Amino acid sequence: MNSRNPRPIHGAHRSSAQRTLKICLCLIAALAIGLGCLSVYTVVTVKNQKDVTAEIQGLQDQLTKAEKARDEAVASLAERDKTIADLKKKLENQSQVIKPNVPPVNSKEKIVALTFDDGPGPYTNRLLDELKRRNIKATFFVLGNSVTQYPDTVKRIAQEGHEIGNHSNSHKNLKHMNAAQVQAEMNPCADKVERITGKRPTLIRCPFGNSNAHVKAYAKKENVPLIYWGVDTRDWEYKNKKDPVSLIMKEAFDGAHPIKNGSIVLMHDIHSTSVDAAIKMIDRLIADGYKLVTVSELLHARTDVVEAGETYTGAL
Ligand code: NI
Repeated sequence: MNSRNPRPIHGAHRSSAQRTLKICLCLIAALAIGLGCLSVYTVVTVKNQKDVTAEIQGLQDQLTKAEKARDEAVASLAERDKTIADLKKKLENQSQVIKPNVPPVNSKEKIVALTFDDGPGPYTNRLLDELKRRNIKATFFVLGNSVTQYPDTVKRIAQEGHEIGNHSNSHKNLKHMNAAQVQAEMNPCADKVERITGKRPTLIRCPFGNSNAHVKAYAKKENVPLIYWGVDTRDWEYKNKKDPVSLIMKEAFDGAHPIKNGSIVLMHDIHSTSVDAAIKMIDRLIADGYKLVTVSELLHARTDVVEAGETYTGAL
């Protein structure tokens, strides 16, 4: 029993105090570690938050910059579009001068241009024979439908140095047509002439002399002027009357608007009587000292500037 050596009472007191002290120290240590960890966590978290905030700020700056660049690009595009639109408008309004592509005519000479509409027809070759015999050039305002019917005559007109104008495809009134309708009526004639002769018509004459803004725009696009006349021989009106040749001659030389220097004369080569009158008219004009020229020769001889889409009636 003695060998068990029970602990003294005062020793037991010390041991209890030490345990309490140890526990306290442990708690303090744990608290210190805890506080340490918390502060480290706080520092790291704050640092991370700062980094994220800075990153967000950076991204926002980038976004602002990108948005500014986009706005500037949009503004610059709008500016460029406006410049293009202005230039287009300027170009449309600008006169389009036609370069003379015909032999020059002595400006002192008395000149006249005979023009024949609505053909070619069955009498055109007879007229061409007479023109050739006299070495005279005329202008033919052809219809697309007639070009289809008389392709060889069209070829001959071009080969013998006469001028070809577009008088539409089927002689419709263009006055109330829109741009697409004008194109649909004018283009087939020009295309056929080009296919046969290798050259598009160099003039336009509207059926019935009726034009509008779309016709003018079309003429500008084709780079040709619009041609009317100063002298109407009324050959189509006189063809069934007694002695039509005399009536036509009277109209041409003694009518309300007789032929003078620089005149553009209107006739139709689809009537036999008109061809008869034309031959007589040519001989009278030659006897009177006139030189017979094509419409383009006449325009360039008498006008400083011939403009596409503009209207000319002769006697300039
Ligand atoms: Ni006609």
